[in-house]
Amino acid sequence: MSTDQNAGRVAVITGASSGIGAATARALAADGHRVALLARRADRIHALADELGKGAIAVAADVTDRDSVVAAAARVQQELGGADILVNNAGVMLTAPFTSDQREEHWRMVHTNLLGAMTTTEVFLDQLRTGAGGDLVNISSVAGRVAPAGFAAYAATKWGMNGWSEALRVELQPEIRVMVIEPGAIATELSDHITHPDSKKAAKDVLEWAIPPHDIADVIAFAVSRPHRLTLNEILVRPTVQAM
Ligand SMILES: NC(=O)c1ccc[n+]([C@@H]2O[C@H](COP(=O)([O-])OP(=O)(O)OC[C@H]3O[C@@H](n4cnc5c(N)ncnc54)[C@H](OP(=O)(O)O)[C@@H]3O)[C@@H](O)[C@H]2O)c1
Repeated sequence: MSTDQNAGRVAVITGASSGIGAATARALAADGHRVALLARRADRIHALADELGKGAIAVAADVTDRDSVVAAAARVQQELGGADILVNNAGVMLTAPFTSDQREEHWRMVHTNLLGAMTTTEVFLDQLRTGAGGDLVNISSVAGRVAPAGFAAYAATKWGMNGWSEALRVELQPEIRVMVIEPGAIATELSDHITHPDSKKAAKDVLEWAIPPHDIADVIAFAVSRPHRLTLNEILVRPTVQAM
């Protein structure tokens, strides 16, 4: 999917230790990009960097800890010459009724999914500005458009990401393209961390028909490979069996 003008850029991917982030790292590396893999589980990102070989680096970072993101940005600058593409993918989905006693999980979703993406963007912004044209790819969700019971806090983070991205587009383009990807049900580890029993069962049932993460990675790779004169602003991607 790579085009000559885009190959060889540097992509920073948060949440690259599993699921959509790991698949995106593989897809972008296959297209000739150099990739910086950010996540907390250092063993996972080091193994993936080894698999991808030259041009891939693993950088342990927690998007809720600004100091660790600043340190990660310094390494990306030093070892890869700065970021051209930032994929804000790190996220948690700890669904539970808002009326349940799971306040910490609700706040953690906001801190990780929304504030983590905002922090990472703010820290990497200067790097994205310096190249031939930067790309910001924000991983939202169909839950940024549709909000079933149990999704109040998660949907707030994804609705927030959509609104934040709309305003950012006005501020940052044409220098930095702003793209929002809204996946439907994808077969990843996302639901493993849910603690509310009924919410977890509902999320696990979905895995029977969810699509693999490389389907989303391919869409991201396509979006960033387009010529800089156009931007795929918002892409909603659902399994064909998922109507809403
Ligand atoms: N799966 C779906 O159906 C679906 C649908 C729509 C949108 N999404 C979104 O897609 C994104 C990726 O999720 P996934 O489905 O691929 O799930 P996943 O396999 O659980 O991946 C989540 C990633 O986020 C990272 N992460 C979590 N907290 C972090 C933190 N504080 N700092 C840095 N990294 C952190 C995890 O790495 P560490 O634990 O190693 O830090 C992991 O790599 C999320 O934003 C999710 O909301 C998923």
